[in-house]
Amino acid sequence: MATFTKLFVTLSIFSLFACSTNAQLIDNFYGKTCPKLQTIVRNEMIKAIKAEARMGASILRLFFHDCFVNGCDASVLLDDTATFTGEKNAGPNKNSARGFEVIDTIKTKVEASCNGTVSCADILALATRDGVFLLGGPSWIVPLGRRDARTASQSGANSQIPGPSSDLATLIAMFKAKGLSADELTVLSGAHTIGQSECQFFRNRIYNDTNIANKFATLRKKNCPVSGGDTNLAPLDILSPTTFDNRYYFDLVAFKGLFHSDQELNNGGSQDSLVRFYSNNGPAFARDFATAMIKMGKITPLTGTKGEIRKNCRFVN
Ligand code: HEM
Ligand SMILES: *[C@@H]1O[C@H](CO)[C@@H](O)[C@H](O)[C@H]1NC(C)=O
Ligand SMILES: *[C@@H]1O[C@H](CO)[C@@H](O)[C@H](O)[C@H]1NC(C)=O
Repeated sequence: MATFTKLFVTLSIFSLFACSTNAQLIDNFYGKTCPKLQTIVRNEMIKAIKAEARMGASILRLFFHDCFVNGCDASVLLDDTATFTGEKNAGPNKNSARGFEVIDTIKTKVEASCNGTVSCADILALATRDGVFLLGGPSWIVPLGRRDARTASQSGANSQIPGPSSDLATLIAMFKAKGLSADELTVLSGAHTIGQSECQFFRNRIYNDTNIANKFATLRKKNCPVSGGDTNLAPLDILSPTTFDNRYYFDLVAFKGLFHSDQELNNGGSQDSLVRFYSNNGPAFARDFATAMIKMGKITPLTGTKGEIRKNCRFVN
């Protein structure tokens, strides 16, 4: 009986393991079925970034918000309809997540080349990689084979994506819940080396935080009043807002993090030394960021026959 139990437990653990490794993504997944895929995505991202450099940042954020809610399954791309509640109106996305039109354009081009083959989730993963690279960041090979969700979770988007007033313990816990370590939190937060934020997300920090450089707070207050101007924009990285470099960590060292959550990574806690390290070592940041992006991109994807290949990224088939 004891042996039987042992065997049963062993088998159960094995099948759990087999299930999670079932979800394997493959580098050359569309090599035969959509050989032009990567060229199409790259060319469209070149156009999009030429039109507006910020788009590389906006797409990167979409991918983060996709992967943190039900895994990297393109759930963030689904529109709300009379009968469907998506994630676009969840707090972290509403009037703020952007870049959907670029994904639509890429999808249309990809469908013209090989219809019914490539998931919106994979298109988002590739567009993200290209955006980072085109703004001066690292490149990496994107494991592919994700499929698209038929569902979304507005409540998941509201509860599982960290907010800008989070403290370090909360940030670490929320990343841990997605299988990412504290160090991976710190390197992935380096994404804030590009892009813009609305005043409403950093107002509290510039008026109320004490671990902020005085001149920096004064400068930001000019375009972010105590009340009003909620959607006025400021760069996340004051030093080089459209270049994907390690300057974000310089900002943190100088107490010029735009969000309370950014500055938590260098505020006397466990991540200070890594922040300092990345501020002194751009190549290490680039390398570790690429590795962490591949890992974030593997958060519980739908594979095999699960989910679907959407025809239109905004709607389930
Ligand atoms: C660690 C917790 C994080 C918090 C609290 C956070 C919060 C925010 C907030 C509030 C904004 C401004 C949005 C707006 O004004 O529209 C923002 C922008 C952005 N976030 Fe994060 N974020 C976090 C992590 C990440 C991660 C892991 C990535 C990607 C790997 C990322 C990528 C971006 C990018 C690129 C932007 C600029 C978007 C644009 O310009 O359109 N963030 N983030
Ligand atoms: C692909 O296109 C062909 C021809 O336009 C069409 O007949 C077919 O249904 C499409 N397949 C999918 C999966 O959309
Ligand atoms: C500063 O903090 C106080 C107390 O929490 C709060 O009432 C106030 O709205 C904050 N000010 C800004 C500009 O966020």
